[in-house]
Amino acid sequence: MEAAGRREQARDEAQQVRADAQPDPVRGDILVVEDTPASLQLLSKLLTDAGYRVREAPNGELALWSAQAQAPELVLLDIRMPGIDGYEVCSRLKKMPGLDEVPVIFLSAHSDTDDKLRGFQVGGVDFISKPFQFEEVNARVMAHLKIRRLQQQLAAHNDQLQRESRQRLAEIAHMNRNASASVYCAALVHELNQPLAAIMSNAEAAELFLKMDPPALADVEEILGDIRRDDRRASELIQRMREMLKKSDPVAQRLDLNEAMAQVAALLGSEARMRRVQLHTEPAPLPLMVSADPVQLQQILINLVLNGMDAMGEPPQGGAAAAPARPRRITLCARRRDAAMAEVQVSDHGCGFGGNRERLFESFFTTKAHGMGLGLSIAAAIVQAHGGRIWADNNPGGGATVGFALPLAARAGAAA
Ligand SMILES: Nc1ncnc2c1ncn2[C@@H]1O[C@H](COP(=O)(O)OP(=O)(O)OP(=O)(O)O)[C@@H](O)[C@H]1O
Ligand SMILES: [Mg+2]
Repeated sequence: MEAAGRREQARDEAQQVRADAQPDPVRGDILVVEDTPASLQLLSKLLTDAGYRVREAPNGELALWSAQAQAPELVLLDIRMPGIDGYEVCSRLKKMPGLDEVPVIFLSAHSDTDDKLRGFQVGGVDFISKPFQFEEVNARVMAHLKIRRLQQQLAAHNDQLQRESRQRLAEIAHMNRNASASVYCAALVHELNQPLAAIMSNAEAAELFLKMDPPALADVEEILGDIRRDDRRASELIQRMREMLKKSDPVAQRLDLNEAMAQVAALLGSEARMRRVQLHTEPAPLPLMVSADPVQLQQILINLVLNGMDAMGEPPQGGAAAAPARPRRITLCARRRDAAMAEVQVSDHGCGFGGNRERLFESFFTTKAHGMGLGLSIAAAIVQAHGGRIWADNNPGGGATVGFALPLAARAGAAA
């Protein structure tokens, strides 16, 4: 019995030690701004006793300085004070980075409706009339601290989600870029052929010039210059391919949508020829400057054009009897949409979306045997990340059009 009592006492003591070592968590860091010393002290003491960490400021200037030095979680702010008054303190706080979200509760003897309205207008969240009941102050402070903390948690959670979705977009976009690598390969092989053939015929010519008597060295020198130029061109092509396949973070830069469109049309030229599709571009009369990552922008356009080609199916075989009913043409049209946005539309004369229009932008939605169903969802994610929008429609006369709009970059010269 005695032993049990000692054990109980030891347990109580241990609990006490633990309680001493871990003081109650601070309920909140509060800045109290009040010019009447007695009121300031009283409020400060009541709040401290209730478990808050309290900082005191006897006037507006010191309040701003103290809040800037270290952001409080909440401000209790008197309205009538000599120097800058409570309204002014509040509106200045709301303009300071890092302090704009700190809840401000006004404390004042002047509690008619106009005063309150003004308090809310300058960014206050609540109003307590003096003389106050401390229970009321405590209840309101607790409520606003809770709201603030929930908001912060939500914002942190949101940040985290955004980070994760950016990461996922980057991974998927990279996958899709590798998928379009076969198209680049085809374009590259085609384009490489030109300089390589030129190098070969120049080398053969050089051999002939060297065999002459005397050797035509001036001609050989000129030929060597040509060979060097063609070699450089081939290296540039390979370099472009490397850039495309590199996993790099998107970097926005000012670029002209007209040019981006022309580049993609050139890049897909050989693919279009192979599929007997005519690629037609209609640029805007003036540059359409947007701020975008050039590789991502190319990726959108490539996906849209490839979809258009897929929609038109295999080129018809045979002669006149099998002449296509619809033109095999894809038109890329860039234009200024309104004062703020530029748009590009890619239209084809293919099969159209049928009943699938609602699902086009879903990831992994595909109607193709070898499709991944990623092209449009990636295009949509990239467009959204650039602050734009994307849409898709069946054309009245058959075929489909997919368009996207991006904000025009500010600064002169953005007009078209
Ligand atoms: N221009 C178009 N005309 C008709 N249908 C289209 C067109 N563009 C897209 N679609 C439809 O939308 C679906 C999804 O397109 P998306 O580009 O996202 O994927 P995919 O082309 O099937 O595969 P990939 O990941 O290789 O691009 C396609 O499978 C097709 O059914
Ligand atoms: Mg596609």
